Amino acid sequence: MNMRDFYKSLCFLLGFFSVQTEAEKEVNVATWGTAELSMLYSDWYAQKALDGSIYTCSSTPWQTDPWWRLDLMKTYSVNRVTITSKPDCSSCESWLNGAEIRVGNVSSNVSSNPVCAVVSTIPTGATYSYSCHGMEGRYIIVNNPGPSKCVTPCEVGVYVIFPGNLATGRNVKQSSTNGSWISEQAIDFNPGIIKQSSACSSTNVQTNPWWRVDLSSVYRVSSVVITNRLDCCPERINGAEIRIENSLENNGNNNPICAVISSIPAGVSSTYFCNNMEGRYVNLIIPGDSRILTLCEVEVYGEGPLLKRTFLKMKLKSSWSLSDPAVRVQLLSQLQSVLVQRGFSDVKLQWTQPPEQEVMQKEADPV
Ligand SMILES: *[C@@H]1O[C@H](CO)[C@@H](O)[C@H](O)[C@H]1NC(C)=O
Ligand SMILES: *[C@@H]1O[C@H](CO)[C@@H](O)[C@H](O)[C@H]1NC(C)=O
Ligand SMILES: *[C@@H]1O[C@H](CO)[C@@H](O)[C@H](O)[C@H]1NC(C)=O
Repeated sequence: MNMRDFYKSLCFLLGFFSVQTEAEKEVNVATWGTAELSMLYSDWYAQKALDGSIYTCSSTPWQTDPWWRLDLMKTYSVNRVTITSKPDCSSCESWLNGAEIRVGNVSSNVSSNPVCAVVSTIPTGATYSYSCHGMEGRYIIVNNPGPSKCVTPCEVGVYVIFPGNLATGRNVKQSSTNGSWISEQAIDFNPGIIKQSSACSSTNVQTNPWWRVDLSSVYRVSSVVITNRLDCCPERINGAEIRIENSLENNGNNNPICAVISSIPAGVSSTYFCNNMEGRYVNLIIPGDSRILTLCEVEVYGEGPLLKRTFLKMKLKSSWSLSDPAVRVQLLSQLQSVLVQRGFSDVKLQWTQPPEQEVMQKEADPV
């Protein structure tokens, strides 16, 4: 066989690139709370302004200083509030004229909360948006000051901007899932104060339950915020470990520990500082038998993605001459396509120094 064996050194550069996560996200949090009216008109319940249908409205009767009030159970920084007026009713258009939108923390006296905007008029069936520029409060109020007034919102939206949470929209997984408590519900921004089963994640009762988010690139993680469930059993989270790094060995549960959760009170969000640990996977695991891991929210903050350069030295066996630049280009593109086949589509290869070529051994001709 007329073949030469070459051992060649090759250095190349690996660079990991990925799409930058959106810096912030605007989310309608209105349905995460519960609504009340100063007085109920017929079956026009307060919650009908949160049911996603503009055809079912909430209303007070005609009264002095009526109000509709939403309790979000937590303080939010409100970017804007939207109100939809009753469709197919041009005579109702004026009902909301002069209504005040307020954001604040006082439930006993709605008018002691600061005003975000005053409604002039909302055409029938239209949705108008009012900027609140980050006003902070737990209650969102629509009140109409004066005698013989009513408040008739058909839909109310409360939009909050959440800062750059690296977990947003990422792939998540957990060791098992109890019913509707899917792993994605831990990264939906909703702390699950009203209805945990549609806003929190949970495993079954099992040995070493875990949950993982794949940040899809390596980040320098400064902190992880965990929100515990409000409705029951806050002690179940005790002993959970937050682990961060790049390995999927044991499903990522062997990665280094950022923190061990001693306890989190019911409904509270606790922050754990990770001292800029670098990693792609963030895991929570509770070691032990008959444990259950329930997470109402997991937020991950940090910097990145980090560009990772790796220098590799390779020995190749080839009959080609690497002194030919065209061959060098072709070799890189072949390596690239092999990497793509194996799932490394975000790798970029470059020569950092010209390959050396040497004949180490010549195969004996077959007899
Ligand atoms: C509501 O409470 C939060 C947190 O205590 C505070 O930051 C915010 O300023 C309060 N809002 C008003 C309108 O007082
Ligand atoms: C409610 O608050 C407003 C504004 O602070 C105040 O003028 C009014 O007297 C208060 N009403 C009651 C019943 O305390
Ligand atoms: C699922 O959750 C319910 C309610 O918390 C619990 O009673 C049940 O044992 C859980 N199922 C499993 C298989 O762990």
